[in-house]
Amino acid sequence: MSTSKTAGAATATAVAPDVRPILSVRDLTIDYLGEPRQPALVQDVSFDVLPGRSVALIGESGCGKTITSLAVLGLLPARMRVAGGSIVLDGVDVLQASERTLRDLRGRTVGAIFQEPMSSLNPTMPVGDQIGEARWLHLGESRRAARAKAVELLDRVGIPNAARRARAYPHELSGGMQQRVMIASAIACEPAMLLADEPTTALDVTVQADILALLADLQRDLGLGILFVTHDLGVVAEFCADVVVMYAGHVVERAGTRALFAAPRHPYTAALLGAVPQAGQARTVLTTIPGRVPPSGAFPAGCRFRPRCAHAVATCAEPQHGGADGDHFTLCDRVAAGELTPRRRT
Ligand SMILES: Nc1ncnc2c1ncn2[C@@H]1O[C@H](COP(=O)(O)OP(=O)(O)O)[C@@H](O)[C@H]1O
Ligand SMILES: [Mg+2]
Repeated sequence: MSTSKTAGAATATAVAPDVRPILSVRDLTIDYLGEPRQPALVQDVSFDVLPGRSVALIGESGCGKTITSLAVLGLLPARMRVAGGSIVLDGVDVLQASERTLRDLRGRTVGAIFQEPMSSLNPTMPVGDQIGEARWLHLGESRRAARAKAVELLDRVGIPNAARRARAYPHELSGGMQQRVMIASAIACEPAMLLADEPTTALDVTVQADILALLADLQRDLGLGILFVTHDLGVVAEFCADVVVMYAGHVVERAGTRALFAAPRHPYTAALLGAVPQAGQARTVLTTIPGRVPPSGAFPAGCRFRPRCAHAVATCAEPQHGGADGDHFTLCDRVAAGELTPRRRT
């Protein structure tokens, strides 16, 4: 069940300096409306998604990964607002865009795949029509042409008997097939990137591997940039060129996957990677770290990881960006002061 075929390609590719990101998130800060005294839910989050490359967004539950992804799509829950920073998607300022522009971006520029396909699929519409709908809505294609294209897409995502299955309703399909339908729908308008928020978490292990292989294949064929929210370090290692580690709404470390796995710098990353699989071993999920992520209203001031950090000392305060080393970013006082040397992994 390894997807290692994709590994080298994804992680070794050097980025040409003039490649323009599809998505650029800078200093994104999100808070609750009307709660000015609460610490920001997501603070100063920055990353880029480049064509043909995957960025992993990792961290325990409740760290703000989904909220960050929703903000990119202009879909924050009603009680939240973007309090600062910028999100630029295909040259468009998402934070200033009209609802109409956002709808267009969601269909044509970025396709989204979530953990539960059933929460995104319409239970009352045959799956072929749902996929076709995106094309006539966003591309102005005739319904007849859109329906034919839907069958082609179902076939492309590995659904057997696509013409027949196009007439099925979502509940008539298995979880894995539903997720394939979601993927077909996400790529229906030939987007530049995919946003995949734990797309395999709800699936059986063998089905997970098939879906990942399909995503890798589509990425290669279509040159898709992917923002990959995942708990699966195997996916990160094999699939993603860059990693953004979030803890309690902060980016605590951001680097190329290889550099980060070889020598994680932030104590949180090092703890998370404690159980990373070695080459050839089975997939492993993130290690359990004692304690838990505080609820969003209760993030501590200063370093948010401090109460759980094995390396915290009395002088740890407002964390500084440490280890200014190329693109490797670390948010830790002690790393900044050179007091913590990266734990080299073998
Ligand atoms: N719809 C919502 N309304 C209010 N708070 C939310 C909502 N969704 C998530 N949160 C809160 O925002 C924080 C970040 O959540 P989320 O982005 O879902 O984390 P992750 O995806 O990393 O598990 C959590 O504290 C969570 O309780
Ligand atoms: Mg989430």
